[in-house]
Amino acid sequence: MRTKQAAAELAKIIAVVNNKGGVGKTTAAVHIGCALAALGKRVLCVDMDTQANLAQNFFSRKFVNTAIKAVQNGSPLPPEHHSSGVDVLTLSFYEADEEEYRAAIHAYASEYEYILIDSPPSLEKRTLSALKASSFVLIPTEAEQFAFSGISNLLQLAASYNLHILGVFINKYDPKKQVHKAFRSFIADQFSQFFLEDSIPTSTVFPNAQAENKTGFEFYTQKKPNAALEAYQAIAHSIIAA
Ligand SMILES: Nc1ncnc2c1ncn2[C@@H]1O[C@H](COP(=O)(O)OP(=O)(O)O)[C@@H](O)[C@H]1O
Ligand SMILES: [Mg+2]
Repeated sequence: MRTKQAAAELAKIIAVVNNKGGVGKTTAAVHIGCALAALGKRVLCVDMDTQANLAQNFFSRKFVNTAIKAVQNGSPLPPEHHSSGVDVLTLSFYEADEEEYRAAIHAYASEYEYILIDSPPSLEKRTLSALKASSFVLIPTEAEQFAFSGISNLLQLAASYNLHILGVFINKYDPKKQVHKAFRSFIADQFSQFFLEDSIPTSTVFPNAQAENKTGFEFYTQKKPNAALEAYQAIAHSIIAA
């Protein structure tokens, strides 16, 4: 019983993966992280990509340079707190083997409820380490021709790591485009077991916010709700409900 209670206190560790670049992994990790934190959850976002886009989105290039120096001096920076409530662990410059990456992330498992790992755009060691460290996987995709084979391969890979699939969702979705609608319903149909109904619309909020090293939630201050940010909030709710 004691062991079970202790286990229940450990974070849900979620790898955000898709070996295709530009589909929205980093943007998803940032905004789902913020949405979970806004719901009062203790959240750690881990940057596993050497491009350190996640760390830069939350903070600045200066912060990224500090993270580089910390590793040169021996070890990665400890998690840095962001005003959204999310803590950020930058492993972008930490070179290690799969087991060391797993240990570096699991060291924080008892301090957070959710750990979201942003992974690189290929199936390299860092991505496989993210999968090894995780119990759950979340797959952002675009509504396009090559999504089907990519998702199938990722689901197989996730199964080989015994991961629970939290969901597949569509990013950069434009319902006015017939081709998007057609691919969305094809993907929803083919992967019905895992498909998340909330698609993230194409929105200038993300690139504009990122250009200022801000999250969309910080950047967007209008009263009128923003559909793309609301869609990430809905995904955060479905993660909590899972
Ligand atoms: N819903 C969206 N609408 C418009 N642009 C988006 C959206 N999501 C992400 N982007 C933009 O697409 C680019 C790639 O997103 P990113 O999250 O960096 O992808 P990945 O991490 O998979 O490479 C970034 O410039 C980002 O601002
Ligand atoms: Mg990225």
